Amino acid sequence: MADFAETLAQGYTFAGPSLTLGAPLRDGEVATSTLVRIPLGMMNRHGLIAGATGTGKTKTLQLLTDQLSAAGVPVFCADLKGDLSGLSRPGVDHPKIHARSTAIGVPFVPTPCPVEFFSLTGVTGHQLRATVSAFGPLLLSRVMGLNDTQQSVLAMVFKYCDDQGLLLLDLSDLRQVLVYLSDEGAGQLAEYGGLAKSTVGVILRKVVELEQQGADQFFGEPEFDVDDLLRVMPDGRGVVSVLELTDVQERPALFSTFMMWLLASLWRELPEVGDPDKPKLVFFFDEAHLLFDGASDAFVGQIEQVIRLIRSKGVGVFFVTQTPKDVPADVLGQLGSRVQHALRAYTPDDEKALKATANTFPKSEFYDVPKALTSLGTGEALVTVLSPKGRPTPVVATLLVPPTSQMTPIPDADLVAAFRSSPLFATYAQPVDRESAREVLQRRMEEAMARDDAETSGSEPGPKARSRQRRKAEPDLGDQVGKMLNSPMAKTLGRELIRGLFGVLGLSTSRRRRR
Ligand SMILES: Nc1ncnc2c1ncn2[C@@H]1O[C@H](COP(=O)(O)OP(=O)(O)OP(=O)(O)O)[C@@H](O)[C@H]1O
Ligand SMILES: [Mg+2]
Repeated sequence: MADFAETLAQGYTFAGPSLTLGAPLRDGEVATSTLVRIPLGMMNRHGLIAGATGTGKTKTLQLLTDQLSAAGVPVFCADLKGDLSGLSRPGVDHPKIHARSTAIGVPFVPTPCPVEFFSLTGVTGHQLRATVSAFGPLLLSRVMGLNDTQQSVLAMVFKYCDDQGLLLLDLSDLRQVLVYLSDEGAGQLAEYGGLAKSTVGVILRKVVELEQQGADQFFGEPEFDVDDLLRVMPDGRGVVSVLELTDVQERPALFSTFMMWLLASLWRELPEVGDPDKPKLVFFFDEAHLLFDGASDAFVGQIEQVIRLIRSKGVGVFFVTQTPKDVPADVLGQLGSRVQHALRAYTPDDEKALKATANTFPKSEFYDVPKALTSLGTGEALVTVLSPKGRPTPVVATLLVPPTSQMTPIPDADLVAAFRSSPLFATYAQPVDRESAREVLQRRMEEAMARDDAETSGSEPGPKARSRQRRKAEPDLGDQVGKMLNSPMAKTLGRELIRGLFGVLGLSTSRRRRR
């Protein structure tokens, strides 16, 4: 049998910068002075942080975030339960923390991260927004829970708007287009495979529902500029963007698709970098099962592709979830680093899940993997990562270092004060409502109604039609459409309208305005 200390020393000694996970454990004791580390350059090879509730997954996310930021790598993480705001404060020394650090042999140096808070409601962070058009039909279908037929109809509606240069900025634009297509503009659908009017009606109802649930806030402008996730402080630390989701916890389809939109947008906007020395961004997807629950095969297929392709843009994605089974096999197969916290094995189903998890680990000479998985303590995990050469390192039970930022959340008032005093506040606080599909179509319909009225009452327009015409006043519809088609945005639309993964449109209007 190979020597444990020697195997670990060989497996975990890398040249170049790395992140420290902790110290190797055997039979509950720190067994060798070799530290368990992840090469920084391998952080874009994606990863999994898994384990039962309360075993330390979020703290693992936090300790990695602390060290990534310190190494100059920006981080994005979603905060579902409101326990990540402490990232913005230095950690607090405590006898338990002290004992842990001493056992590992890494001094505890309390250090805050530069944090920027975002939210989907604008209450607990900068308002994240996407235009309906850029969000695309596939993600929107997922948010609205559309079936395959409805989804393909929605895709056609988007195609129609793209072709017509109709800007879908917010949900009211989409609603107006659907109203138009199920009435006045129904004839226009013939070219699009004759979309069923009834399906358009169903989608319309779903859009109205979505608006009523308050989701209209995160569709519109100013659209979020993904460059804001890639910031590095003047002192070289990577900015940590925390998406506060406690206020939309009950809308998993919404925030998980929103995060996919961010990833797909990053993929579209970032240049290829191959295998950089360190990632451009590391993206933590907490409660990742919510992304996959009930998702169609097509949707999961797109996720697989985003994950596969975004690596060469220098973005690492870490999924955080209870068991590896929550993540589809094709995605799981792409995850280079594994931090597997304890699993429980109370029921036959638990047993099965445990076996399945154990089977996803490389063979170990030193551990009985299923047994190790059930006997790990809090803040301990079975680890295997990729060496700088891309080979899996030996499986090792690890006593994880404590996060150097604060483990408890900061008071709500402090969080709100922090994001309101940030320079980004001015950029995203106020929604902008500019000329888009709603205004154009409203006029188009009004004009048609006025025409109808005029026809039914002979050559003289009736009083109703006259009043409508008065309201419409000067701007002629032809002019309006022409103006819109000639606007810089529409010109860009006309020229470069290419939908990428998830049908996400690769133009960030806010970017063009600001940069
Ligand atoms: N690396 C660590 N250093 C110090 N303490 C830790 C560490 N990891 C976990 N703990 C302790 O364990 C507790 C639970 O950890 P954590 O909140 O990360 O669990 P979790 O797996 O994310 O739980 P949940 O499934 O409920 O989200 C922490 O509050 C902390 O006291
Ligand atoms: Mg957690």
